[in-house]
Amino acid sequence: MRTISLHNGDSMPAMGLGTWQSHTNLDSILQQALQTGYRHLDCAAIYLNEKEIGTYLHEQMRQQHITRQSMWITSKLWNSFHDPKHVRQACVQTLTDLQLDYLDLYLMHWPVAQIASLGLAIATEGKQLLSLNDIPLAATYLAMQSLVKEGLVRHIGVANFGQQHLKQLQNDSGLVPSVNQIECHPFLTQDSLHHYCREQQIAVTAYSPLGAGARPDFMQDPTHPQLLEQPNVTRLAEALNATPAQVLLAWSMQQGRCVIPKSSNPQRIRENFAAQELILDTQQLQQLNQLNQNLRYVDGGFFVMQNSPYHLPQLWD
Ligand code: A2P
Repeated sequence: MRTISLHNGDSMPAMGLGTWQSHTNLDSILQQALQTGYRHLDCAAIYLNEKEIGTYLHEQMRQQHITRQSMWITSKLWNSFHDPKHVRQACVQTLTDLQLDYLDLYLMHWPVAQIASLGLAIATEGKQLLSLNDIPLAATYLAMQSLVKEGLVRHIGVANFGQQHLKQLQNDSGLVPSVNQIECHPFLTQDSLHHYCREQQIAVTAYSPLGAGARPDFMQDPTHPQLLEQPNVTRLAEALNATPAQVLLAWSMQQGRCVIPKSSNPQRIRENFAAQELILDTQQLQQLNQLNQNLRYVDGGFFVMQNSPYHLPQLWD
């Protein structure tokens, strides 16, 4: 099984199962995933399924004799709980829902803060959003660091952070995140951000590595091309006797990134895991890199509205 090294020398399985938009059949999804060999699960409080995951995960770990130590479980702090006084409670709620004593990795989900009373929801009005002057990223992150000291979390990191946010966080907190989880695939290669993360020894997890086909309607744009159907991807898959999804996953992993494809289909869960065996040569990797068009399927546009302190250029530098 491929692994990714973190800056403290620990390693994280490079192939994880994404759970965003997984709401049905979680028992059979987890059964299949664990049987296949997945030992990394990517969760988040805002996915609103951590309770179900907690129930079925433990049932399956027991049935399949899988120890907690052999699993890597990530979750994420939702935007409504950035105020340092809410961070611990949010983490404890996730631990309770997932029925865990500790998380392997806890990420700040977005460099975006919302009012606490919104709870596990996305702001729909500008007044529900707080600026990063109101709650600086470093204040939230230092509260997350206390969770490490307390043993509730082994590593902390961030998600959806561009270079400016990373630099600001590092300057203000004096800490380097273990991981930055970002959207990444051949339509959004993020070369300069990867370069910065490599330099700073921040491991990268690529979310939506297959092009986020399951994203909710409010994130859909009919003009967006389908990554899994892109002719260079499908041609390469045919030439390698692999599937387009495997080509996309191998492309990410071979460049040192972790991937967390989501699937609720047993065959595709196995297919994705097997991408760890696929090797692309330098020319094939390069061919896929050339598909970059800075296309974000998840662009954070849902945080931009009247009276919002957030706008897209600032979100993505
Ligand atoms: P399904 O759950 O029916 O398998 P991403 O991880 O980039 O967000 O993509 C998730 C989407 O890709 C889901 O719609 C998922 O559908 C689909 N998917 C997952 N694995 C594969 C695969 N191997 N081939 C084609 N589609 C896949």
